[in-house]
Amino acid sequence: MKNALLVALCVLCFVAFSSSAFAASGWRAGKETYKNNCMSCHKRGGEAERLKLNQWSKAKWTKFFGEDKKGMHEEPWGKMSEKEKDDLLKYFHKYAKDDHTRLGCG
Ligand code: HEC
Repeated sequence: MKNALLVALCVLCFVAFSSSAFAASGWRAGKETYKNNCMSCHKRGGEAERLKLNQWSKAKWTKFFGEDKKGMHEEPWGKMSEKEKDDLLKYFHKYAKDDHTRLGCG
């Protein structure tokens, strides 16, 4: 009886683990956040220039995210959850000027 419980627990853990591995998170989720929250303005013919992700270094993106958002950015920043901001920053970091992992298989 005890064993069956253990097995059930293991299966449960495994399922929980593997599904979280497939859930959108990290830079891929950040890319969606970017499309949903930034591209309304930052697009060709939009209110703002298209953003070049490699225009800045990682440090500069981190700094930008840390700053208080005013003006046009108050709204999109207010809409995003902490996780969304985190993933979005991962997306920017992935394509930042000083990141070269993308040349590999990342
Ligand atoms: C309501 C419109 C709007 C939205 C939504 C918006 N922006 Fe902007 N953003 C602007 C404007 C306007 C500027 C300044 C003028 C320009 O770049 O054309 C700007 C400038 C910027 C800059 C350059 C700032 C600098 O100091 O040079 C960055 C980086 C940026 N936005 C990031 C973002 C990110 C990331 C998002 C999504 C979370 C976002 N913006 C969403 C309107 C917007």
